[in-house]
Amino acid sequence: MAVFSEVQKAVELLLQGELVALPTETVYGLGGNALDAGVVAKIFEAKNRPSFDPLIVHVASVDQAGEIAEITEEARLLFERFSPGPLTLVLKKKDVVPDLVTSGHSTVAVRIPNHAKTIEVIRKSGLCIAAPSANPFGYTSPTTAQHVEEQLGAKIGGILDGGPATIGLESTIVDASGAGLKVLRLGGLPYEEICKALGKEIPVQTSSSKPNAPGMLSSHYNPGVPIKLFEDADALWGAYLETKATVGVLYMGESRSLEFERNLSEGEDLREVAAGLFAGLRELAKEAVEEIWTYKMPEVGLGRAINDRLKRAAISV
Ligand code: TXA
Ligand code: MG
Repeated sequence: MAVFSEVQKAVELLLQGELVALPTETVYGLGGNALDAGVVAKIFEAKNRPSFDPLIVHVASVDQAGEIAEITEEARLLFERFSPGPLTLVLKKKDVVPDLVTSGHSTVAVRIPNHAKTIEVIRKSGLCIAAPSANPFGYTSPTTAQHVEEQLGAKIGGILDGGPATIGLESTIVDASGAGLKVLRLGGLPYEEICKALGKEIPVQTSSSKPNAPGMLSSHYNPGVPIKLFEDADALWGAYLETKATVGVLYMGESRSLEFERNLSEGEDLREVAAGLFAGLRELAKEAVEEIWTYKMPEVGLGRAINDRLKRAAISV
């Protein structure tokens, strides 16, 4: 059985050099021993991931992070304030970290996940665990053990079921390796909270691999059906009245009772929207829809990261 719930089984498989999908509060990760280059190579292979895209290493404590990376003062402050939690810090790496993990960079991304089972796996195994999101490259990230099983079940040692991810968006990545801190990926820890903790605004330098151009690009986070991203709810509902296509809609607010829909939060709570977003995309993509439609969220707090993911998955209209 690929899916199991015993921590000890995950520990044994990992110590044998197998890959195990592990639950975290953000999304499920595809874990393996980060300090064994052979195991790390298997992670890239299972995901079909290009080797120029480096991995995040998961540890159980700041002390353990110190075994693989140089912890600066600001990094320590952020770890102490937000970890365990949805924050990844990019730090100067130590020699023990194989080049394959970091794609040859002199920095390594480190995170302390906030999930009791996975922390126990790390502690009991004594390993640092490299874990990208447990999806094939380019596809929507998994927020349940079943999502992982459907796509990678046959290719990996097992899946530790820790229930649905509570946050539902990947971690926020902050580069803390040099003098000026910067955000490299918006994610489950709101940008504003990081600035507040630091007492200053820091730049956001996320890559724009997905230009705002028309065309059915499916560059990242794509569930397999074209996604149209509207500027706001009014624009979407206006177009919905006129379309002849079979459309599945992801929305929030008062229920519309459509044939194909997911209402991610009746109370318009962005935390609920984030937690249900990836599962909603996957589920709608399995229904008989030609397109999935949704709209941009307010550009504050988790809305920033939700919009980032939607823009990468969709075409704007
Ligand atoms: O929430 C998360 O972060 C999840 C869970 C499983 O922890 N993991 C995750 O991993 O999202 P992945 O591999 O899907 O995304 C890792 C990102 C990539 O965009 C990669 O480019 C960036 O982290 N990254 C890793 N190492 C880096 C480095 N040394 N410098 C800059 N970016 C780095
Ligand atoms: Mg990913």
